[in-house]
Amino acid sequence: MKKKVIHVSVVICCAAVASATGAVTVTPTGRYMAVPVENGAPKVMLEVFDGGKRIAYDQVEWARGTTNWTGSLDLGAAKGRPFEFRFSGKDAPNLSAADLAFSDSRYPAPKGQYGEPWRPQFHFTPPLGWNNDPNGLSCRNGEWHMFYQHNPFGITWGNMHWGHAVSKDLVHWNDQGDVIAPDDAGPMFSGSAVTDAADTAGFGKGAHVLVYTAAGKPHTQRVAWSLDGRNYAKWPHAAVEGRPDANRDPKVGWYAPGKHWTMVVYGEVEKKRHGVSIFISKDLKTWEKASHVKGDLFDEGKYLYECPDFFELPIEGEKGTRWVLTAANRQYAIGTFDGRTFTPEVERLAQWRSPGNVNPVYAAQTFADVPDGRRIQVAWSHFDTRAGGRADAMFNQGMSLPMELKLVRAADGLRLARFPVKELESLRAGAPTPLAGFNGELAEVEFSCEPVADAVVALDVRGVAIVYDAVKRTLALNGKAVAWDLDARGRLGLRVFVDRVGVEIFSLDGLQYVPAPDIVPDPAKRKISWRASGAKKPVHGVTERAWRLMSIFADR
Ligand code: FRU
Repeated sequence: MKKKVIHVSVVICCAAVASATGAVTVTPTGRYMAVPVENGAPKVMLEVFDGGKRIAYDQVEWARGTTNWTGSLDLGAAKGRPFEFRFSGKDAPNLSAADLAFSDSRYPAPKGQYGEPWRPQFHFTPPLGWNNDPNGLSCRNGEWHMFYQHNPFGITWGNMHWGHAVSKDLVHWNDQGDVIAPDDAGPMFSGSAVTDAADTAGFGKGAHVLVYTAAGKPHTQRVAWSLDGRNYAKWPHAAVEGRPDANRDPKVGWYAPGKHWTMVVYGEVEKKRHGVSIFISKDLKTWEKASHVKGDLFDEGKYLYECPDFFELPIEGEKGTRWVLTAANRQYAIGTFDGRTFTPEVERLAQWRSPGNVNPVYAAQTFADVPDGRRIQVAWSHFDTRAGGRADAMFNQGMSLPMELKLVRAADGLRLARFPVKELESLRAGAPTPLAGFNGELAEVEFSCEPVADAVVALDVRGVAIVYDAVKRTLALNGKAVAWDLDARGRLGLRVFVDRVGVEIFSLDGLQYVPAPDIVPDPAKRKISWRASGAKKPVHGVTERAWRLMSIFADR
């Protein structure tokens, strides 16, 4: 994975810096306090006290010169009485009450911001701030919920809150602001969500229950709930007390045959060995350790590292099911589960491919409670707005396209196959054209052919080179190659999504996936073409078409 660096810069001279600690007592006039962010400004600790009790704390890059964007610090319902705002750290600004601003609604992203040249146009990105892992992916009352690891006060990792977006169609997202914020138990690390239809936890029938890690010392696994799917309250106890084998990233599911909940959680499952622990519960509040699955030794590798997910899938075209255990670091296992113990049949399979063995996407999680039973996954995607020197960007990172997972019997045995969800077809702007007829920015391309033994098939998609080499059996993206297999019928089948920033390639049989969020198509190039070389007739049976896609943003 890309390392999340906590960026600490030291400014020696700064006029606004007066003391190591400054405090202002103000009665907020609105629920949200404006946090003016200057990307890269020295980080200072901002703490808010309500009558001696600390109700919020964050490391903020409080603007000294230019304000790049304005974050919203949620003071909760308890506004209207004096709060103390304390700034501390070497570079703490010396502010007066007049420097603080409040509003009853969140400070929105500025108008037109979604039109930024570095903003993907049909992938989810946070309106403001940094995101990493998707959290709490779930369906409830006809809505798709996506929570996400969010830094609302910077475009680098830190201050982990859970951001929240909802969608009616899995394509267009409506951001709701943060729902859980750092507290005395620690920052809010990754986790999951379920709908407690039978009210096993006693929060109310159909409560939306978030299960998350509070990353204090030690880490504990906790729950929060909501009845309206908008406002979430924290249960004030630890559901799983601090223990090495339950370190972080709980993913919860319902095990119907045993009428109990399951939780897979990342941790040190044996001395110096990480892996996944399985806990079970009747009520989401108290958990019993049932078993664990071994990953690698800490200094050996990253098998079953961070953010586990665990689900059952039917085998396509056969009777029977298998359980799939995935982890953040792309690898997965397939096996059986008896309600307490997972028995792997195959392990260390890879969910995606990329040149250089990196993780361009990471921490994939699937939606709970999808009404039609599909298993849909979203991963954190490294759209890096800082890569092109965009010091003034208001957001960083984003998510992969939602993908439907299936379990298929492939040449080598059972494998996960993945397909962009059918909902994405709603983005198509009219009928497809042959590749040569395409003229646009956002594209979906379908191309398939049967290449002869020494063929080289090259697509030029708005200046991005996608080249299949039948001798090397590779697919290269702008010159960087990954292994690539033809499908069971000997065909090369590609489905390519081209965003303003980022390209995702799927094989038509679902067995191969190459996410490339770092590739930025040339804004000046709007055409698509293909050619094949090698033998006299290097390819047979070509089918090819492309759609122009629409942006998911109305405001751009
Ligand atoms: C994975 C991860 C998780 C953790 C979260 C913190 O990217 O490191 O293990 O919960 O990010 O943001």
